[in-house]
Amino acid sequence: MTGYQVRTAEQMAGLGSSSLADEGTPLARAAEHTLLARQGAAMRPPLPRPSTTRVMVVANQKGGVGKTTSTVNVAAALAQLGQRVLVIDLDPQGNASTALSVEHHQGTPGTYEVLVEGAALDDVLVPSPEVPGLDVVPATIDLAGAEIELVSVVARESRLQKALAADPRVGETGSGEDRWDYVLVDCPPSLGLLTINALVAGAEVLIPIQAEYYALEGLGQLLKTVEMVQAHLNPTISVSTILITMYDARTRLAAGVAEEVKAHFGDQVLRTHIPRSVRVSEAPSYGQTVMTYDPGSPGALSYLQAAQEIVRHGTFGVPAVKGTEA
Ligand SMILES: Nc1ncnc2c1ncn2[C@@H]1O[C@H](COP(=O)(O)OP(=O)(O)OP(=O)(O)O)[C@@H](O)[C@H]1O
Ligand SMILES: [Mg+2]
Repeated sequence: MTGYQVRTAEQMAGLGSSSLADEGTPLARAAEHTLLARQGAAMRPPLPRPSTTRVMVVANQKGGVGKTTSTVNVAAALAQLGQRVLVIDLDPQGNASTALSVEHHQGTPGTYEVLVEGAALDDVLVPSPEVPGLDVVPATIDLAGAEIELVSVVARESRLQKALAADPRVGETGSGEDRWDYVLVDCPPSLGLLTINALVAGAEVLIPIQAEYYALEGLGQLLKTVEMVQAHLNPTISVSTILITMYDARTRLAAGVAEEVKAHFGDQVLRTHIPRSVRVSEAPSYGQTVMTYDPGSPGALSYLQAAQEIVRHGTFGVPAVKGTEA
């Protein structure tokens, strides 16, 4: 680990958020958060919309690493930054639907109907009641049977891709104001047909990695699956974004894991790490993302910053405008 750089309060105040972005110390991050919080949601100018819909698959077959938390909070943050966003809940647990406060009791039309029955996205999606500009395709427990039911369905790996391609809100800017700028797909913790459907439908994979021991174990299997899909089903899919979650800046272990992830994935790793925070974990029990539950909290500000980085990244890992931070 590198040594800490000590700065006076005056020096800290003189630093823009860009200079702070690389700092890993708790004090530096706190200062950065204060700067971001002061900007205020209303003061933030909307960020430019991408030229075409970016379909991002949030996947990691390891359970509990922050897939759902990252999906809903990045989605809400993107919407707050002026982007039009669709979240597709692809996990029978329906956690993303819960966090976004949309109905998902058994029988509610959602991802199951899209994948198994060929329903149109428009027939099943629901606008988020909490976040303007954010739509949700809910998942119910019915989806638990889809892995098996899909086995006998024609073109079973490309059901989601077909549904997205059929919707006029997916595509280039020409498709209008309503066009979704980002589609985020929250995958279950497995590499079965549901996750394969997401990988066939998407262009980018966002992998949340929990900053803990064993973080990288099992990732090889996910990367091999992405390669397999790339070779046989969807040549455009690639890993574009790695997000380190539940980062505890006080521990050497977290810093060590972050270093290891960076050594492995380089520029694909977002510079923003999501801190472990009680506010982040309690937001879903209020049917909210942390972006609305406690917008000034470090967790919300980190997700906002991660979303800003994602917007500035191109469609692949190399940032489109490298090194420029708002
Ligand atoms: N930054 C954070 N700080 C504190 N708790 C967090 C944070 N991120 C996620 N959690 C908590 O960790 C648990 C797992 O997170 P989450 O459900 O997002 O993971 P997941 O990868 O989607 O899990 P699964 O594999 O079951 O779908 C949840 O209880 C969540 O509230
Ligand atoms: Mg989940």
